[in-house]
Amino acid sequence: MDLQLNIEETLCIGCGECVTDCPYAILALENDLPVVLLDKAEQCIGCQHCLTICPTGALSILGKDPARSRPLKDNLPEAEQMETLIKGRRSVRRYKKESLPKATIDHLIQVAAHGPTGVNNRGLLFTVLDRAEDMEQFRQMVMGQIEQQIKGNHLPQGFDFFKAIFRSWTQGNDILFRGAPHLLLVSSPASGPTPVPDSLIALSYFELYAQSMDIGTLWNGFVYLTLTHILPELVGELGIPADHTLGYAMSFGRPAVRYHRTVQREDVQINRVRMTTG
Ligand SMILES: Cc1cc2nc3c(=O)[nH]c(=O)nc-3n(C[C@H](O)[C@H](O)[C@H](O)COP(=O)(O)O)c2cc1C
Repeated sequence: MDLQLNIEETLCIGCGECVTDCPYAILALENDLPVVLLDKAEQCIGCQHCLTICPTGALSILGKDPARSRPLKDNLPEAEQMETLIKGRRSVRRYKKESLPKATIDHLIQVAAHGPTGVNNRGLLFTVLDRAEDMEQFRQMVMGQIEQQIKGNHLPQGFDFFKAIFRSWTQGNDILFRGAPHLLLVSSPASGPTPVPDSLIALSYFELYAQSMDIGTLWNGFVYLTLTHILPELVGELGIPADHTLGYAMSFGRPAVRYHRTVQREDVQINRVRMTTG
């Protein structure tokens, strides 16, 4: 396996940080320059830690040019800004009808895909309804099929509350999708090491980044339940492979609501472990 390790010798200072930080110890210094240990190359998980830790940008791996990475120095948000984003994020349940630009949605997904995954598994699939007109058609289809399930008495046990959701829909209140113009589903191969956490982390990052751009999001449990319990055949029809585990669903779009301050959550439970007394 050729990892395409390339060292710009005029820049490399032989510090060995790439060697020390590699989680699978596949690199070594030879004549003060990093090399791939040939019997270890197969173990590379492609995390790019070697590229990111190099202080001089001398190291390229897997064809990645370090000059294309954004430097971290002076480019990170202040901790207080992060805190405001986390505390100011809200579940948005009122949306403008129009689509977001396709490029904006693609960018959001590309950034969210930088979240961590177990063993750096890159199997995440982002299934998105990125045009409001498709979302509208999907909404109508889902509600039509839910209506059929209700009429045929086919709702699974424990899902009678969907009758109330449907009744609200007939009265002009879209409790299922909250009128959002877009829907994102994240899935990952069930055979991977950590498919569910991987998907949930990606959605969490998507949500925070979206809200930093004044794009509203909603963790959509009702849609998730619809796809996993009421209309599971839709998962395949949306193009999600049968061997994938669906992580969750998130509605999103330009909000038709504005929040002005953070909430105050003071009921945090902390279980502090002390291994010694005193
Ligand atoms: C896993 C999960 C599923 C959720 N499902 C729904 C849902 O189906 N419909 C809805 O209106 N809100 C849903 N929510 C939003 C929660 O009700 C919301 O996060 C909570 O009330 C706190 O409000 P906040 O997100 O604005 O802080 C869900 C949230 C999570 C984390």
